[in-house]
Amino acid sequence: MNQLEILRESLGQCDEIILDALIMRNRIVEDIMAYKEANGLQILQPEQEAKQKEWLEKRMEGRRHKDEVSDVFECIRTNSKRIQARKLFNYNIVLIGFMGAGKSTISDFLKNVFAMDVVEMDQIIAQRQGMTISDIFETYGEQYFRDLETNLLIEMQSRSNVVISCGGGTPMRECNVVEMKKNGRVVLLTAKPETILDRVKNNHDRPLIENNKTVPFIADLMEKRRAKYEAAADIIIETDGKNELEICEELVHRLRTMDEEK
Ligand code: S3P
Repeated sequence: MNQLEILRESLGQCDEIILDALIMRNRIVEDIMAYKEANGLQILQPEQEAKQKEWLEKRMEGRRHKDEVSDVFECIRTNSKRIQARKLFNYNIVLIGFMGAGKSTISDFLKNVFAMDVVEMDQIIAQRQGMTISDIFETYGEQYFRDLETNLLIEMQSRSNVVISCGGGTPMRECNVVEMKKNGRVVLLTAKPETILDRVKNNHDRPLIENNKTVPFIADLMEKRRAKYEAAADIIIETDGKNELEICEELVHRLRTMDEEK
Protein backbone atom coordinates (compact mmCIF):
# COMPACT_ATOMS: atom_id res chain seq x y z
CA MET A 1 0.00 0.00 0.00
CA ASN A 2 1.36 3.42 -0.82
CA GLN A 3 1.02 6.42 1.48
CA LEU A 4 -2.10 7.71 -0.28
CA GLU A 5 -3.89 4.38 0.08
CA ILE A 6 -2.98 4.24 3.77
CA LEU A 7 -4.34 7.73 4.33
CA ARG A 8 -7.55 6.87 2.51
CA GLU A 9 -8.01 3.79 4.60
CA SER A 10 -7.58 5.87 7.79
CA LEU A 11 -10.15 8.32 6.48
CA GLY A 12 -12.54 5.47 5.84
CA GLN A 13 -12.06 4.30 9.42
CA CYS A 14 -12.88 7.78 10.68
CA ASP A 15 -16.09 7.77 8.63
CA GLU A 16 -17.03 4.40 10.12
CA ILE A 17 -16.60 5.85 13.62
CA ILE A 18 -18.64 8.94 12.70
CA LEU A 19 -21.36 6.80 11.15
CA ASP A 20 -21.61 4.49 14.17
CA ALA A 21 -21.64 7.49 16.50
CA LEU A 22 -24.41 9.15 14.51
CA ILE A 23 -26.55 6.02 14.47
CA MET A 24 -26.06 5.69 18.22
CA ARG A 25 -26.74 9.40 18.77
CA ASN A 26 -29.97 9.34 16.78
CA ARG A 27 -31.18 6.35 18.76
CA ILE A 28 -30.41 8.17 22.02
CA VAL A 29 -32.33 11.23 20.80
CA GLU A 30 -35.39 9.02 20.25
CA ASP A 31 -34.90 7.32 23.64
CA ILE A 32 -34.73 10.69 25.40
CA MET A 33 -37.98 11.76 23.78
CA ALA A 34 -39.65 8.47 24.76
CA TYR A 35 -38.36 8.83 28.33
CA LYS A 36 -39.66 12.39 28.65
CA GLU A 37 -43.07 11.32 27.39
CA ALA A 38 -43.27 8.20 29.53
CA ASN A 39 -42.42 10.22 32.65
CA GLY A 40 -44.53 13.27 31.88
CA LEU A 41 -41.48 15.53 31.67
CA GLN A 42 -41.20 18.77 29.75
CA ILE A 43 -40.59 17.94 26.08
CA LEU A 44 -39.03 21.23 25.05
CA GLN A 45 -35.80 22.09 26.82
CA PRO A 46 -34.12 24.86 24.86
CA GLU A 47 -31.56 25.31 27.65
CA GLN A 48 -30.07 21.93 26.64
CA GLU A 49 -29.10 23.37 23.27
CA ALA A 50 -27.35 26.28 24.98
CA LYS A 51 -25.40 23.81 27.14
CA GLN A 52 -24.30 21.79 24.09
CA LYS A 53 -23.14 24.93 22.32
CA GLU A 54 -21.19 26.03 25.38
CA TRP A 55 -19.52 22.62 25.63
CA LEU A 56 -18.46 22.73 21.99
CA GLU A 57 -17.18 26.28 22.29
CA LYS A 58 -14.94 25.25 25.19
CA ARG A 59 -13.72 22.03 23.53
CA MET A 60 -12.80 23.83 20.31
CA GLU A 61 -11.26 26.92 21.87
CA GLY A 62 -8.08 27.84 20.02
CA ARG A 63 -8.28 24.74 17.81
CA ARG A 64 -7.97 24.54 14.06
CA HIS A 65 -11.16 23.97 12.02
CA LYS A 66 -13.33 25.38 14.81
CA ASP A 67 -15.80 26.86 12.31
CA GLU A 68 -16.01 23.70 10.25
CA VAL A 69 -16.61 21.51 13.31
CA SER A 70 -19.23 23.96 14.63
CA ASP A 71 -20.94 23.77 11.28
CA VAL A 72 -21.16 19.98 11.46
CA PHE A 73 -22.56 20.12 14.98
CA GLU A 74 -25.14 22.66 13.87
CA CYS A 75 -26.24 20.16 11.25
CA ILE A 76 -26.35 17.34 13.77
CA ARG A 77 -28.49 19.45 16.10
CA THR A 78 -30.90 20.39 13.32
CA ASN A 79 -31.30 16.78 12.31
CA SER A 80 -31.84 15.65 15.90
CA LYS A 81 -34.65 18.19 16.11
CA ARG A 82 -36.15 16.80 12.91
CA ILE A 83 -35.96 13.27 14.27
CA GLN A 84 -37.85 14.39 17.37
CA ALA A 85 -40.46 16.28 15.35
CA ARG A 86 -41.09 13.31 13.06
CA LYS A 87 -41.41 10.98 16.03
CA LEU A 88 -43.96 13.29 17.61
CA PHE A 89 -46.03 14.33 14.60
CA ASN A 90 -46.44 12.53 11.30
CA TYR A 91 -48.77 15.23 10.01
CA ASN A 92 -48.85 18.98 9.44
CA ILE A 93 -49.60 21.32 12.31
CA VAL A 94 -52.09 23.92 11.11
CA LEU A 95 -52.24 27.06 13.24
CA ILE A 96 -55.42 29.10 13.04
CA GLY A 97 -56.74 32.06 15.00
CA PHE A 98 -57.57 35.72 14.86
CA MET A 99 -55.06 38.29 13.63
CA GLY A 100 -52.48 38.75 16.35
CA ALA A 101 -53.34 35.50 18.15
CA GLY A 102 -49.70 34.45 17.84
CA LYS A 103 -49.71 32.12 14.81
CA SER A 104 -46.50 33.49 13.30
CA THR A 105 -44.71 33.73 16.65
CA ILE A 106 -45.55 30.15 17.55
CA SER A 107 -44.57 28.93 14.05
CA ASP A 108 -41.17 30.55 14.47
CA PHE A 109 -40.74 28.94 17.85
CA LEU A 110 -41.66 25.50 16.49
CA LYS A 111 -39.21 26.04 13.64
CA ASN A 112 -36.50 26.75 16.17
CA VAL A 113 -37.13 23.85 18.52
CA PHE A 114 -38.08 21.17 15.97
CA ALA A 115 -36.40 22.43 12.79
CA MET A 116 -39.81 22.03 11.11
CA ASP A 117 -40.48 23.81 7.83
CA VAL A 118 -42.92 26.66 8.21
CA VAL A 119 -45.41 27.75 5.59
CA GLU A 120 -46.49 31.27 6.47
CA MET A 121 -49.51 31.52 4.18
CA ASP A 122 -49.76 35.32 4.02
CA GLN A 123 -46.06 35.63 3.35
CA ILE A 124 -46.06 33.04 0.56
CA ILE A 125 -49.13 34.57 -1.07
CA ALA A 126 -47.60 38.06 -0.90
CA GLN A 127 -44.31 36.77 -2.32
CA ARG A 128 -45.95 34.93 -5.18
CA GLN A 129 -48.16 37.86 -6.08
CA GLY A 130 -45.30 40.31 -5.67
CA MET A 131 -47.43 42.64 -3.55
CA THR A 132 -48.52 43.16 0.03
CA ILE A 133 -51.72 41.62 1.42
CA SER A 134 -53.23 45.10 1.60
CA ASP A 135 -52.46 45.69 -2.09
CA ILE A 136 -53.92 42.31 -3.09
CA PHE A 137 -57.17 43.20 -1.28
CA GLU A 138 -57.24 46.63 -2.87
CA THR A 139 -56.37 45.53 -6.41
CA TYR A 140 -58.21 42.22 -6.76
CA GLY A 141 -60.65 42.11 -3.81
CA GLU A 142 -61.04 39.76 -0.87
CA GLN A 143 -62.49 36.79 -2.85
CA TYR A 144 -59.39 36.62 -5.02
CA PHE A 145 -57.21 36.52 -1.91
CA ARG A 146 -59.40 33.81 -0.35
CA ASP A 147 -59.04 31.67 -3.51
CA LEU A 148 -55.27 31.96 -3.24
CA GLU A 149 -55.52 30.70 0.33
CA THR A 150 -57.59 27.69 -0.71
CA ASN A 151 -55.15 26.78 -3.49
CA LEU A 152 -52.18 27.00 -1.16
CA LEU A 153 -53.84 24.67 1.34
CA ILE A 154 -54.49 22.14 -1.42
CA GLU A 155 -50.82 22.40 -2.38
CA MET A 156 -49.89 21.54 1.21
CA GLN A 157 -51.51 18.12 0.86
CA SER A 158 -48.27 16.77 -0.57
CA ARG A 159 -46.21 17.86 2.46
CA SER A 160 -45.98 16.50 5.98
CA ASN A 161 -44.41 17.59 9.27
CA VAL A 162 -44.80 21.20 8.22
CA VAL A 163 -46.17 24.02 10.38
CA ILE A 164 -48.79 25.91 8.39
CA SER A 165 -49.51 29.35 9.77
CA CYS A 166 -52.86 30.39 8.28
CA GLY A 167 -54.23 33.86 7.74
CA GLY A 168 -56.85 34.86 10.29
CA GLY A 169 -59.68 34.39 7.79
CA THR A 170 -58.56 31.06 6.28
CA PRO A 171 -60.87 28.81 8.37
CA MET A 172 -63.93 30.89 7.46
CA ARG A 173 -64.30 28.81 4.32
CA GLU A 174 -65.46 25.33 5.13
CA CYS A 175 -63.63 23.82 2.17
CA ASN A 176 -60.39 25.19 3.62
CA VAL A 177 -60.98 23.37 6.87
CA VAL A 178 -61.57 20.15 4.93
CA GLU A 179 -58.20 20.65 3.19
CA MET A 180 -56.41 21.41 6.48
CA LYS A 181 -57.70 18.27 8.12
CA LYS A 182 -56.70 15.92 5.31
CA ASN A 183 -53.17 15.63 6.65
CA GLY A 184 -53.09 18.12 9.49
CA ARG A 185 -54.18 18.72 13.04
CA VAL A 186 -55.75 22.13 13.52
CA VAL A 187 -54.62 24.19 16.50
CA LEU A 188 -56.65 27.29 17.39
CA LEU A 189 -54.74 30.00 19.23
CA THR A 190 -56.90 32.48 21.13
CA ALA A 191 -56.31 35.75 22.95
CA LYS A 192 -58.44 38.47 24.50
CA PRO A 193 -59.33 41.45 22.25
CA GLU A 194 -57.18 43.71 24.47
CA THR A 195 -54.17 41.43 23.95
CA ILE A 196 -54.84 41.31 20.20
CA LEU A 197 -55.02 45.08 19.96
CA ASP A 198 -51.76 45.42 21.79
CA ARG A 199 -50.07 42.94 19.44
CA VAL A 200 -51.37 44.42 16.16
CA LYS A 201 -51.43 48.14 16.88
CA ASN A 202 -48.15 48.96 15.14
CA ASN A 203 -48.68 46.75 12.08
CA HIS A 204 -50.23 48.17 8.91
CA ASP A 205 -50.69 45.09 6.71
CA ARG A 206 -54.03 43.93 8.07
CA PRO A 207 -56.61 45.65 5.84
CA LEU A 208 -59.62 44.30 7.74
CA ILE A 209 -58.74 46.20 10.91
CA GLU A 210 -56.43 48.93 9.66
CA ASN A 211 -59.00 51.68 10.23
CA ASN A 212 -60.68 50.04 13.18
CA LYS A 213 -58.03 49.27 15.69
CA THR A 214 -60.28 49.32 18.73
CA VAL A 215 -61.25 46.71 21.31
CA PRO A 216 -65.00 46.76 20.45
CA PHE A 217 -64.35 46.29 16.71
CA ILE A 218 -61.90 43.44 17.32
CA ALA A 219 -64.22 41.83 19.89
CA ASP A 220 -67.12 42.02 17.45
CA LEU A 221 -65.24 40.49 14.51
CA MET A 222 -63.84 37.81 16.81
CA GLU A 223 -67.30 36.91 18.02
CA LYS A 224 -68.53 36.64 14.42
CA ARG A 225 -65.72 34.20 13.68
CA ARG A 226 -65.72 32.26 16.93
CA ALA A 227 -68.09 29.44 15.94
CA LYS A 228 -66.16 28.65 12.75
CA TYR A 229 -62.81 28.81 14.48
CA GLU A 230 -63.96 26.47 17.21
CA ALA A 231 -65.62 24.05 14.79
CA ALA A 232 -62.36 23.81 12.81
CA ALA A 233 -60.12 23.29 15.83
CA ASP A 234 -58.80 19.94 17.02
CA ILE A 235 -57.35 21.69 20.04
CA ILE A 236 -57.72 25.23 21.45
CA ILE A 237 -54.91 27.01 23.29
CA GLU A 238 -55.36 30.28 25.15
CA THR A 239 -52.27 32.42 24.77
CA ASP A 240 -52.95 35.32 27.17
CA GLY A 241 -50.26 35.62 29.81
CA LYS A 242 -48.23 32.65 28.51
CA ASN A 243 -44.80 32.75 26.92
CA GLU A 244 -43.88 30.96 23.69
CA LEU A 245 -42.28 28.01 25.45
CA GLU A 246 -45.38 27.44 27.60
CA ILE A 247 -47.68 27.65 24.59
CA CYS A 248 -45.60 25.22 22.53
CA GLU A 249 -45.21 22.79 25.41
CA GLU A 250 -48.98 22.79 25.84
CA LEU A 251 -49.41 22.35 22.08
CA VAL A 252 -47.13 19.28 22.01
CA HIS A 253 -48.78 17.65 25.02
CA ARG A 254 -52.30 18.27 23.80
CA LEU A 255 -51.56 16.95 20.30
CA ARG A 256 -49.86 13.85 21.68
CA THR A 257 -52.72 13.18 24.08
CA MET A 258 -55.13 13.54 21.22
CA ASP A 259 -53.12 11.10 19.09
CA GLU A 260 -53.05 8.56 21.91
CA GLU A 261 -56.79 8.78 22.34
CA LYS A 262 -57.46 8.22 18.63
C1 S3P B 1 -56.96 38.22 7.68
C2 S3P B 1 -55.84 37.99 8.45
C3 S3P B 1 -54.48 38.28 7.98
C4 S3P B 1 -54.44 38.28 6.45
C5 S3P B 1 -55.49 39.15 5.87
C6 S3P B 1 -56.90 38.75 6.31
C7 S3P B 1 -58.29 37.91 8.28
O1 S3P B 1 -53.59 37.30 8.51
O2 S3P B 1 -54.60 36.97 5.97
O3 S3P B 1 -55.21 40.46 6.30
O4 S3P B 1 -59.27 37.80 7.52
O5 S3P B 1 -58.36 37.71 9.52
P1 S3P B 1 -53.05 37.28 10.05
O6 S3P B 1 -54.06 36.57 10.86
O7 S3P B 1 -51.79 36.53 9.96
O8 S3P B 1 -52.88 38.69 10.47
